[in-house]
Amino acid sequence: MQAYQILHGANIDGLQAIDYPVRDLGLGEVRIRVHAVALNYRDLMVAAGNYLVSVDDPIIPCSDGAGEVLAVGPGVTRVQVGDRVAGSFFPFWHEGAPTPAKIRNGLGGDIDGMLAEEVVLHEDALAVVPAGLSFIEAATMPCAAVTAWNAIFVSSNHVKPGDTVLLLGTGGVSILGLQLARAAGLRTIVTSSSDEKLARARELGAHHTINYTTIPEWQDEVLHLTHGVGAQVVLEVGGQGTVNRSVAAVAMGGTVAIIGGVSGFGGEVNPAALLASAKRLVGVHVGSRAMLEDVMRFVDASGVKPVIDRVFPFDQAQDAYRYLASGAHFGKVVIDVTKSV
Ligand SMILES: NC(=O)c1ccc[n+]([C@@H]2O[C@H](COP(=O)([O-])OP(=O)(O)OC[C@H]3O[C@@H](n4cnc5c(N)ncnc54)[C@H](OP(=O)(O)O)[C@@H]3O)[C@@H](O)[C@H]2O)c1
Repeated sequence: MQAYQILHGANIDGLQAIDYPVRDLGLGEVRIRVHAVALNYRDLMVAAGNYLVSVDDPIIPCSDGAGEVLAVGPGVTRVQVGDRVAGSFFPFWHEGAPTPAKIRNGLGGDIDGMLAEEVVLHEDALAVVPAGLSFIEAATMPCAAVTAWNAIFVSSNHVKPGDTVLLLGTGGVSILGLQLARAAGLRTIVTSSSDEKLARARELGAHHTINYTTIPEWQDEVLHLTHGVGAQVVLEVGGQGTVNRSVAAVAMGGTVAIIGGVSGFGGEVNPAALLASAKRLVGVHVGSRAMLEDVMRFVDASGVKPVIDRVFPFDQAQDAYRYLASGAHFGKVVIDVTKSV
């Protein structure tokens, strides 16, 4: 069976397809024929060697994949042969709040991930995919959708329909966040460097859009659009270049969900900017298997169709990485593991 491997820091050129040995299944293990893998900014960080964790040996990259159960090992009860499943980002975080033990490993980070024709995962690391989601759609759920779900519906301070969610940029997390928020009856404001991408965001139902290049003081515009109140939740993916503006744009008692740092990490947040208005900064680290199950159920029930920008065949995985790195995408970039050119 074919699998990709990469050494942390080997760059995209270091992503190589190899013949990978098929091993026997142990207690509780499940063999999955992977159909689709979705890329995340994190996969670029692994390639660049600047991800949060690292290991010395090559790994099979990518956290996000969906496929079909080919075989089950002894003791497996949660799934059966033929089930459609997605892998959970943190195989040991099943439910509840995170602990160091629950997030000790992440697929495609410090242990093997999903960019392979077949993978073996423990049954507890799997969520059954609802019938309404294709494999390609389901592959977008484990990292991007779970992170957006966690930020808006789990880690925020009692968001309710009609509240406003601010989404920075038009990458995978933000566009899924837009779609989930819109389907839940929330008002949405989207920022982007591109007017064309903002037009697409409006087509998806964004109530307001702001070009953060032409309006660098976009936090003022958020306050203007919300009649001085601010957004109840901000999906803060920008990092050091945006976090203080996000704090300024969030409403009294609202939540800035600290998710990423596409403009880098560092800088300072003035505590005084938080205290008088009881604003909350909350770190969000993907989420649990229960959140994966919850978000897939919501997507299935609400009819949300995750925005897939491009699908690449398995043998063009490097091109898929380069396309994501170019920043040209809107929504998700996916690899169809069942197709080759
Ligand atoms: N904490 C977690 O659990 C978690 C989970 C997933 C992702 N993340 C992090 O979240 C970030 C986004 O991940 P992703 O996979 O969604 O990335 P992505 O699909 O590659 O999207 C990145 C987007 O960021 C936007 N952007 C770039 N510079 C910006 C700026 N200065 N202000 C606002 N937006 C800016 C761009 O949007 P435009 O082209 O529209 O300008 C770009 O498309 C990354 O830092 C990633 O590591 C964290």
